[in-house]
Amino acid sequence: MAKKKPKKAKQAKTKVAAKKSVRKVVKLARTKKANGNGKSNNLPRPTTKPWGQAGKALTGVSILDFTHVQSGPTCTQLLAWMGADVIKVERPGVGDITRGQLVDVKGADSLYFTMLNHNKRSITIDSKHPQGMRVLNALIKKCDVLVENFAPGALDRMGLTWDYIHKLNPRMIVASVKGFGPGPYEDCKVYENVAQCAGGAASTTGFREGPPLVTGAQIGDSGTGLHLALGIVCALYQRNRTGRGQKVLAAMQDGVLNLCRVKLRDQQRIEKGPLTEYSQYGEGVPFGIAVPRAGNDSGGGQPGWILKCKGWETDPDAYIYFITQAPVWQAICDVIGEPGWKTDPEFATPKARLPKLKKIFARIEDWTKTKTKFEVMEICNKVDIPVGPILSMKEIAEEPSLRKTGTVVEVDHPTRGKYLTVGNPIKMTDSISEVKRSPLLGEHTDEILKDVLGFKANEVAEIKNSGALSAPKREEKAA
Ligand code: COA
Repeated sequence: MAKKKPKKAKQAKTKVAAKKSVRKVVKLARTKKANGNGKSNNLPRPTTKPWGQAGKALTGVSILDFTHVQSGPTCTQLLAWMGADVIKVERPGVGDITRGQLVDVKGADSLYFTMLNHNKRSITIDSKHPQGMRVLNALIKKCDVLVENFAPGALDRMGLTWDYIHKLNPRMIVASVKGFGPGPYEDCKVYENVAQCAGGAASTTGFREGPPLVTGAQIGDSGTGLHLALGIVCALYQRNRTGRGQKVLAAMQDGVLNLCRVKLRDQQRIEKGPLTEYSQYGEGVPFGIAVPRAGNDSGGGQPGWILKCKGWETDPDAYIYFITQAPVWQAICDVIGEPGWKTDPEFATPKARLPKLKKIFARIEDWTKTKTKFEVMEICNKVDIPVGPILSMKEIAEEPSLRKTGTVVEVDHPTRGKYLTVGNPIKMTDSISEVKRSPLLGEHTDEILKDVLGFKANEVAEIKNSGALSAPKREEKAA
């Protein structure tokens, strides 16, 4: 009883403190003066427009999109979904090389291209033609951001150096994806798997006994595009204060390494002792000097593994990821029919279980093999055991809930017909993404010249007649 008094007194003190802090917050919100960040006076009054009808997050931002293949287009597609006007500049006659890669419908843009270039407009410009440069200059003056992922030096060779761009438009943000940041490899051309290898993903992926593995998730390309998009949005925000643009660089090696952060964590831990959560520890296999491949071990402190489910003999995806999370160990024992393990000192604690994980997962698998992965999901989720079904792409494509949220979307295209794509994975209540089909090559050339850049009809004709916007006619050139 004697102890209760000080507790009450403490509670009372906390209440007073809370009241004080509430008062303080109210006072700050009411003040007319700008606070330390100068924020309160800069924001407009909250709009009264219905949610989703007050424009999109990036409405009014225009992007000069010089990107190609996957990394850059991922970035600009995200910005386009958020409402930016993305003007994709493509080489006349050729366009983004992916238009013609992995073609599944003859004569139509490939899925590779269409699925990375939604909500954009396309203009064809030969950047090495004087009249092409005239159009580019106008676009640089007009746009907020230039995004590119050419090989190192290509933008400079076009004459579009930072100094040149910054002089034309000091507010322009110039954002680039490159394979490597400054250093010994900065001049290298880089594709997805090169980045996965150089960023530490491949050396830490796969099974201990096997070679390094690359993953199906495009962490080098799409992952870096995501990083770049964040950099661009932050640069736009900073520009609100500084009034000037800046260079933004996302190197693919850096982006992959950022996603492999937990492995750099483990590199430092391994120098101090074994990585006890890796199943190799339980199996008594000594560690080397670098982080090993961890198979399907979970990256965190809770042991996990992929287990066979009913039908695994014929279905390559009849598997489930099963986590033996400590707080639900008792439930796991009940579910798999080993209630004795709840109190058996050999199994009752996480420490006791560590060296026996192989045996434990084999026992759990005896149980999961009697159920489909969805039955395992249902049974385990009811008692909070974290499990995840291995979903095939077919199952994902057909999953009604993903269609409902717009994460998987059906899009119609004039030359290829209907196809499925991944919609914007970021959901916002006031900036709702609609997925519009990718543009045909040069589809918006005229409207961009006239409506965006304000060229008069005679100027448009002059630029067009110069050949700067169309594929070179080789026979004529040779003659
Ligand atoms: N008009 C005229 N020329 C154009 C043009 C246009 N509209 N668009 C592109 N070009 C030219 C470039 O100027 C360049 O010419 P140059 O080498 O004579 O200066 C040329 O086309 C090729 O560009 P490049 O980027 O070198 O393409 P590539 O096919 O040889 O290399 C990559 C492709 C992806 C390897 C390379 O661009 C790269 O390393 N990019 C950075 C990393 C990256 O994003 N990788 C992931 C891709 S998913």
